[in-house]
Amino acid sequence: MSDRSLLVVVLAAGEGTRMKSRLPKVLHKVAGRTMLHHVLAATRAAGATRTAVVVGPGREDVAAEATRIVPDAQVFVQTERLGTAHAVLAARAALEQGADDVLVLYADTPLVRPETLARLRAPLAEGAAVAALGFEPEDPTGYGRLVTSGDELVAIREEKDATAAEKAVRFCNAGLMALSGKDVLSILDRIGNANSKGEYYLTDAVEIARADGRSAVAAKADVDEVAGVNSRIQLAEAEAILQKRLRLSAMAEGVTLIAPETVFFSADTVLGRDVIVEPNVVFGPGVTVGDDVVIHAFCHLEGAQLAPGVSIGPYARLRPGTRLDEGVRIGNFVETKAAHIESGAKVNHLSYVGDAHVGAGANLGAGTITCNYDGFSKYRTEIGAGAFIGVNSALVAPVTIGAGAYVGTGAVITSDVPDDALAIARSRQVVKEGWAKDFRAARADAKKKG
Ligand code: UD1
Ligand code: CA
Repeated sequence: MSDRSLLVVVLAAGEGTRMKSRLPKVLHKVAGRTMLHHVLAATRAAGATRTAVVVGPGREDVAAEATRIVPDAQVFVQTERLGTAHAVLAARAALEQGADDVLVLYADTPLVRPETLARLRAPLAEGAAVAALGFEPEDPTGYGRLVTSGDELVAIREEKDATAAEKAVRFCNAGLMALSGKDVLSILDRIGNANSKGEYYLTDAVEIARADGRSAVAAKADVDEVAGVNSRIQLAEAEAILQKRLRLSAMAEGVTLIAPETVFFSADTVLGRDVIVEPNVVFGPGVTVGDDVVIHAFCHLEGAQLAPGVSIGPYARLRPGTRLDEGVRIGNFVETKAAHIESGAKVNHLSYVGDAHVGAGANLGAGTITCNYDGFSKYRTEIGAGAFIGVNSALVAPVTIGAGAYVGTGAVITSDVPDDALAIARSRQVVKEGWAKDFRAARADAKKKG
């Protein structure tokens, strides 16, 4: 990695009207994290030493997300939307602090990889003043065109200002740009707005640098990496691209996906070796899966830690705060939340285990429910190691089932059960011989008489 200092300027002042959303565009999520988070994660991985984020007026929510991801990020407000160069200059105070390299990115371009940022920035170390990132979209309409001559970038022409010959160029401006830190302010301050949109175009930096006798170059990126998101349709396209990337990397790292296109990951999903994921599984944010785990079909996981050798599903739902130790088995139609289940314990069928701790080797029978909520507060259930809970039991929290205790089938447990005890909590069975037969006869008789 380069030892040159890097100031990253992320433009996030767009209004995102085409999203038709109350939420600012850059806070929409792709693979479980906001677009702004993706961009900041990429710049961090690319070695950002300082980060400036430019937001629109009143966008405290965007500012808060920026500082949640990069706590020392400087946030600047662009009060009027006068163009991309004007937006970068909103971060003037950060630019004045100086850096070897300055990298400008859009927060609505979430799929860019750190390697590409490194490639874009590399020419600055060789003396270039400006480097732009180009790509070849299927339809270049609306993009600025990169006018090149050999390795040199001659100009970036906005579509509205382009000649017919320039419009025929298929090499388009992705919007990401690297600028030499010592030149950036002098270049930006000379950008005017005498163009068809009346905006201050960052893209004019190329011609200004060249007029100074400095060099400008273009790097090339894959279309899939620089796709900007302006609408929900493009959001879904970005999601598809990222999911494909996450699936390929999971498989490359030793995970079996039986039907990859039906498995959905979050950007932060961590998977061990020899994990098997059956079809139709969704990983929400915050999931860590150990080696040799089997995730059967139709599971949904979020905020869960699975130790090696765990098996879940089919149809299991692991909610945040779930921690499954080695070899735990969670079966079909089981929901867990804020539950630590220790090694070898089994919850195999139709259960809800919430706000609970289950000791090693315990067995929760079908239909065991922790009644953790009284409509106002949540209460904890403690189940000791090796305890056996009979089927269809309601454990009314707060309650403790001792280690090695037995709870008889169909219990409603409202008070603690000591270690190694048996608790039976159901009404006694009553049998009346012949009652049903007599009942049917009486009903048939009554019907006949009308
Ligand atoms: C820009 C580029 C164009 C490129 C295209 C790629 C310029 C002049 N044009 O065009 O060459 O092909 O992106 O998508 O740079 N923004 C602000 N404040 C502003 C203006 C823009 O923060 O005052 C942000 C927007 O939120 C957005 C980004 O900058 O994230 C690009 O702005 P946009 O208006 O979409 O630029 P384009 O006209 O698409
Ligand atoms: Ca745009």
